[in-house]
Amino acid sequence: MFLLRGWRWLVDKATAKARNLLINVLAAGPIPRHVAFVMDGNRRYARMNHKAVRQGHADGFIALRKMLDACFRLNVKCVSAYAFSIENFKRSEDEVSALMALAEEKLAELCSHGDLLEQYGVRVNVVGDKSLLPESLQKAVKKAEDMTRQNNNAIFNLCMPYTSRHEMTKAVETSIQKSISSGKEEITEEDIYSQLMTSLGGSPPLDILIRTSGVKRLSDYMLWQSCQDTQLQFSTTYWPKFGLLDLIPVILDYQRKIWAQRLSV
Ligand code: FPP
Ligand code: MG
Repeated sequence: MFLLRGWRWLVDKATAKARNLLINVLAAGPIPRHVAFVMDGNRRYARMNHKAVRQGHADGFIALRKMLDACFRLNVKCVSAYAFSIENFKRSEDEVSALMALAEEKLAELCSHGDLLEQYGVRVNVVGDKSLLPESLQKAVKKAEDMTRQNNNAIFNLCMPYTSRHEMTKAVETSIQKSISSGKEEITEEDIYSQLMTSLGGSPPLDILIRTSGVKRLSDYMLWQSCQDTQLQFSTTYWPKFGLLDLIPVILDYQRKIWAQRLSV
């Protein structure tokens, strides 16, 4: 028993060292400024592993935490995650309330003292139509946003309940109102961009969008943000199983692209 524990301790230590080494090697190259995740495949993962759907989502949160840790260690300036689409309200009441309860619990956990957001100095923005969230979650969101408002090393956009079309509609609406009140007749792309909820706190341009679970769709996510140079990456791994070994080839591919661009100048 004692021997087994010692062996496990050694394996854990070696794994952590290898992980840190890999991250340090990657961090020496060009690093994307903004990475977004469409975290898909939680229910298929749950079904495959004979787990309840809510457990699939809870395991999905563990994967998200690991990705946030890896990205902020790499010095990515902004991470966005699609946690709940406005369309997801059409799912069963049981699943929706499990996801809302998970978000409430995990938001408080993430921004508690000494946890990930404080550790890396990350500001959290909950992005989407927050008025659709249950009242207790709205309070937890406000608390998390207020608690991390002064953090300025990086940004975490937790998108829920989000769709791009809603985000763009609101941005156009606000731009029109501003233009009317200021008497400025023209509305530019920059005006609309600056009103996008994902621009809050100065999110940099989206460099990489990753969708898991083998599905190749954008599902109304980051449509404005991914219209230019964004590298789209589709992984067949179900989200709860997505880890550093899945992220590394994506970052390497980005680095290859940046180096090729630099050489061709
Ligand atoms: C998509 O998989 C996943 C979601 C709709 C929920 C994603 C949420 C998490 C990973 C937890 C996030 C954390 C917080 C703070 C709420 P799916 O349900 O569409 O699965 P399927 O594609 O296999 O059906
Ligand atoms: Mg899905």
